[in-house]
Amino acid sequence: MKATVFLGGGRITGALISGLRLAGYDELIVVHDRHPAKLRRLQREFHVQVERDLQSAVAQAGLLVVAVRPDSVKNLLASIGRVDRPLTVVSLAAGVPLPKLGRALGPPVRWARAMPSPTCRTGRGFTALAFAREMSKSDRKRVRDFFSQVGAVIEVPEKKFDVFTATYSSSHGYHTLAALSNAGKTLGLDRKTALAAAAHALAGGVMAFTEGELPLEKLMHEAATPGGIAATVIKTMDDAGYYRIIERGVRAGVARARANARRV
Ligand SMILES: NC(=O)c1ccc[n+]([C@@H]2O[C@H](COP(=O)([O-])OP(=O)(O)OC[C@H]3O[C@@H](n4cnc5c(N)ncnc54)[C@H](OP(=O)(O)O)[C@@H]3O)[C@@H](O)[C@H]2O)c1
Repeated sequence: MKATVFLGGGRITGALISGLRLAGYDELIVVHDRHPAKLRRLQREFHVQVERDLQSAVAQAGLLVVAVRPDSVKNLLASIGRVDRPLTVVSLAAGVPLPKLGRALGPPVRWARAMPSPTCRTGRGFTALAFAREMSKSDRKRVRDFFSQVGAVIEVPEKKFDVFTATYSSSHGYHTLAALSNAGKTLGLDRKTALAAAAHALAGGVMAFTEGELPLEKLMHEAATPGGIAATVIKTMDDAGYYRIIERGVRAGVARARANARRV
């Protein structure tokens, strides 16, 4: 039986496998990584098979997931060499484009890109997908179904993948949580209360948006009485360049993703 094989047993692989097991995914999962300790941990926690030999790992794959950092992709693919059988390969590497991936491993290989979120650990993931033109409908469905087990899936045109990557990260939620709770703490709340207040501000707001029917503008209008406290906080932040700063950060992320493309 062919396995789902992960090349790279780091952060996102751990999160994905955790979410898959939580969803009841009981197919054979094989992980290859150059760090035996990471493999032992995954084996212990998620009952995966580990494979120290790269070629044997690839030979076992029905679905191959490339989960190494972008600057490791080139060496990894060179070490694999040519694959002479049809194989669906999904790259998670930020910024590394399909045309470059398509030149590696050989023509029978069909490539997709996926940008999953580590929140897939608890089944609340969000994964963007892009497919190489030659990937068949049934292979696309297979990849979509795979990531659907750990959360929502959307297709994003590849030319917009870097902007998606810089925008969607759950790290922005953690970062805003840290910044907002820090303000509450600096102004007198204890750490626990400050975190609870900031977590409500973010999670409560986001859930009202995602689970309710009102558009964002209406929700903002409801929560911030003109001239009131929330409106004052928002106006002060906006006047200080809140939107501009966020756009600047996302632009820098996009530039970083585009730089990754030049490393492969
Ligand atoms: N983390 C996320 O939330 C996230 C989300 C979406 C997409 N991604 C993408 O997923 C990829 C992996 O990210 P990550 O955060 O999981 O990275 P990570 O924690 O560094 O895991 C990658 C693992 O692969 C190993 N590795 C690299 N080259 C190898 C090789 N040739 N043979 C065997 N093992 C090798 C690394 O070892 P060394 O440390 O020795 O290199 C490391 O253990 C990246 O391309 C990233 O853009 C990550």
